Amino acid sequence: MDTTLWKGGAKDLSERTFIMLKPETLMRSLIGDVISRIERKGLNIIGLKLVSLSREDASKLYEMHQGRPFYGPLIDHVTSGPVIVMVVEGPNAVVIVRGVVGATNPLEAQPGTIRGDFALITRKNIIHAADSMENARKEMSIFFSEDELVEYEKPTEKEFLL
Ligand code: CMP
Repeated sequence: MDTTLWKGGAKDLSERTFIMLKPETLMRSLIGDVISRIERKGLNIIGLKLVSLSREDASKLYEMHQGRPFYGPLIDHVTSGPVIVMVVEGPNAVVIVRGVVGATNPLEAQPGTIRGDFALITRKNIIHAADSMENARKEMSIFFSEDELVEYEKPTEKEFLL
């Protein structure tokens, strides 16, 4: 396990989290809308790739769901077309992103969240976001090495956001 991908700590509350835009997001031409929600919240995208997910990487990503009835169809679905994998960074990024994303089941996702606004069914719920810092670290290390992540500070950030 690559622990160098971990960044956390009480000092500035800065965290990294992992996000994946699922095949339906690309097929429905929603990439821009979804990424825009993340950007507008104020988080920094520090890694981004368009990839065809292998079954091996998909099963690593969804390891915690192995054995569940939806697992097989989920792996088939996320390997059915290209996905976008991203690492984003900002204060409390894990919880903040989960809020922007909304509940797993679009029936429960509030309007104004990504899933609440763009998804109808759970399997095709547009986006995956890590549910803890530990899982974020594991998931980002499947797709990114530390030297592929680019940290920066937006010039207006201190003045207008924090
Ligand atoms: P995600 O946040 O990517 O994490 C696991 C995924 O499994 C979830 O989003 C859904 O796409 C899928 N999933 C979870 N529960 C169900 C379910 N009951 N039926 C179908 N798909 C599910």
